[in-house]
Amino acid sequence: MGHLVPNPNAQADGRTTTELGAVLPKTAEVRTSRLFVGGVDLVELARDQGTALYVMDVEHIKHQLTSYKEAFDLDITVAYAGKAFLNKAMVRILAEEGCYLDVSGGGELAIALAAGFDPAHVIVHGNNKTVQELTEAIEAGVGLIVVDCLEEIERISRIATERGIEQPVLLRIKPGVVADTHDYIVTGAEDSKFGFGITDGMAEQAVRTALENPGLKLKGLHIHLGSQIFSIRPYAEALGVLAAFAELMHTTYQCAPEILDLGGGLGIAYQASDEPATIAEYGRLITQHVTEAFGNVGAPEPTIIVEPGRSIVANAGVTLYTVGAIKDLKGIRCYVAIDGGMTDNIRPALYDARYEAVIANKANQARDTLVTLAGKHCESGDMIAVDASIQTPEVGDIVAVLGTGAYNATMSSNYNAQVRPAVVFVEQGAATVVQRRETYEDLLRRDLG
Ligand code: LLP
Repeated sequence: MGHLVPNPNAQADGRTTTELGAVLPKTAEVRTSRLFVGGVDLVELARDQGTALYVMDVEHIKHQLTSYKEAFDLDITVAYAGKAFLNKAMVRILAEEGCYLDVSGGGELAIALAAGFDPAHVIVHGNNKTVQELTEAIEAGVGLIVVDCLEEIERISRIATERGIEQPVLLRIKPGVVADTHDYIVTGAEDSKFGFGITDGMAEQAVRTALENPGLKLKGLHIHLGSQIFSIRPYAEALGVLAAFAELMHTTYQCAPEILDLGGGLGIAYQASDEPATIAEYGRLITQHVTEAFGNVGAPEPTIIVEPGRSIVANAGVTLYTVGAIKDLKGIRCYVAIDGGMTDNIRPALYDARYEAVIANKANQARDTLVTLAGKHCESGDMIAVDASIQTPEVGDIVAVLGTGAYNATMSSNYNAQVRPAVVFVEQGAATVVQRRETYEDLLRRDLG
């Protein structure tokens, strides 16, 4: 994994907190020596709530949702991908902002319904949805189910006809386009467990099967190219492939897609040096290529859905930890041990993901010390940031790790029987605990002895 290779030549970047730009939440500011987000002093918040602690900037989340709504010169629906970060408070923001929600599986659907979200605005994903999950979705009245395999078409047909329902569906297509990102999160290539290939004839077979079976209404197509994508050209390529397939659907089966769901995937800045495409650039590219590619299909232009996850919430989030121990191994590296780790952020261990960090109580000082932030769990690979530049650390400091709003809480675990952190929303000077910290009782709840 390379985490423990000594790197005495690495240089601290010396940047100040505010020079971290797009990695920080929109409302982040340094007041005297402290980092504030949403008008809330993160050092005091850590004292009040304890650490590890997930903090989310509500204004940032709303800003990102609005940027998506405004980026397209098209009829567009923004369906936030719940797998990135989900709880009832997040669902309520989506409802207020007029957004849809993409759920992967029955658990995420249950959270949406518990928050009172309109099921007609839910899109259900999963490459092997169980009969129970499909039944729950159809009975709830979800807006769309994205079909991933032929077996599912028959299952939906049976469940829906038994209940006298006609369930709107999309077919998930593999456009055969490879996006440049981590291998674990590429999904649009031919060799993928997700969706139907075009070149192997599976997509056409899925269209035929969907049209033959009662109880479902084929509304269109879905793609998802992958995640943390920096270069957005592959979306244009995929639109060309989709338009050609739409033409075949139109001419051969008289069922041109009314809806095109382009999935999520836009990358974000985890490091100060990262320069992902912007939401506005993504919107412009898609607007231009939908119009170009579908101009010749001979059917009305489809309406577009996008399913961003990471780009809505990642930079809204920071995780607060307390420094408990410092081991300065001379000539090797300086380990700064924090009171969390791979249980609240698995991404460094899983994807070699890199994070920026600042000391929230020394936020006005230069980040001129090179350290490795080590988690508290029983794994050598339990590192949150290797060779990271931070202010000079001391035991008791509050470390804020940045860009942790996506795929951290939702991928958290109870390894070492660690209790999961609370989630706090901050906005206009107020902090609201929207998910409490787990307790030992929570850990024992399912244990029947
Ligand atoms: N739509 C579908 C069908 C998806 O599978 C995903 C993510 C999204 C939308 C949202 O993609 P985003 O905008 O967040 O890139 N755990 C990994 C990411 C896995 C993404 C899975 N699918 C990570 O931590 O990087």
